[in-house]
Amino acid sequence: KMVVPGVVLGLLAACVAAAAKESVLNICMDAKHHKTRPGPEGKLYQQCALWKDNACCTANTSTEAHQDQSYLYNFNWNHCGVMPAKCKQHFIQDTCLYECSPNLGPWIQQADNSWRRERILHVPLCKEDCEQWWEDCKDAITCKENWHKGWNWTAGTNRCPRGSMCQPFRYVFPRPADLCEKIWSNSYKYTQEHRGSGRCIQMWFDPANGNPNVAVAKYYAQNRADASPAPWAALLLLPPALLALF
Ligand SMILES: *[C@@H]1O[C@H](CO)[C@@H](O)[C@H](O)[C@H]1NC(C)=O
Ligand SMILES: *[C@@H]1O[C@H](CO)[C@@H](O)[C@H](O)[C@H]1NC(C)=O
Repeated sequence: KMVVPGVVLGLLAACVAAAAKESVLNICMDAKHHKTRPGPEGKLYQQCALWKDNACCTANTSTEAHQDQSYLYNFNWNHCGVMPAKCKQHFIQDTCLYECSPNLGPWIQQADNSWRRERILHVPLCKEDCEQWWEDCKDAITCKENWHKGWNWTAGTNRCPRGSMCQPFRYVFPRPADLCEKIWSNSYKYTQEHRGSGRCIQMWFDPANGNPNVAVAKYYAQNRADASPAPWAALLLLPPALLALF
């Protein structure tokens, strides 16, 4: 009877786990407009240009991210009157991060939407990024708390559903956490972590100092308790189970 030492199986398990951790780094999600693999994009537009060294978005997507009712999602920011520019810049940046970042791997999940196979869930957003977003949008007007669902799309773009009321963000989203977490069905998680801590994802950063989110993704990939458990975790339990058979 063949005897496989437990230490060999243990090493194998460690390799599988390490490979799985690596595999969530530097990847693009399988969604509507993402490239299959990240890479340099010399012509990324304005606010998305931070990602030009390594991006999941094309130049076309980055330009469209700045347009009202772009072909990307036909989404209308101005559903309760024109959204002020200081607020809109955060939605543009949010779109740039979503479309361009290759560092969201630890938070990619299967999605149940018809238009994408994967989504992000609970991306730990830096406190300052969330609070500035809220601050600059608190007087903007909207009629909905969750912008993923429940719109009236009969005219080809999102309009407020009957019975909803246009009111300032500060009533719809009383605290910054309400805005960052609820608007996109928990794609983001509000955190107490600060910009530059290496423990939270920055929507805004100075590309002269590199992309700080690379280290953040690595940290969370190695500390998966903070991210969601992945199917490969079951593989770790396999070697002891096999060992029991010998
Ligand atoms: C991006 O591509 C789409 C689809 O091919 C096209 O309709 C649109 O005009 C392009 N946008 C820009 C800014 O080039
Ligand atoms: C959606 O808009 C259409 C046309 O503008 C309207 O007839 C319909 O009642 C609306 N539906 C809802 C649920 O708001």
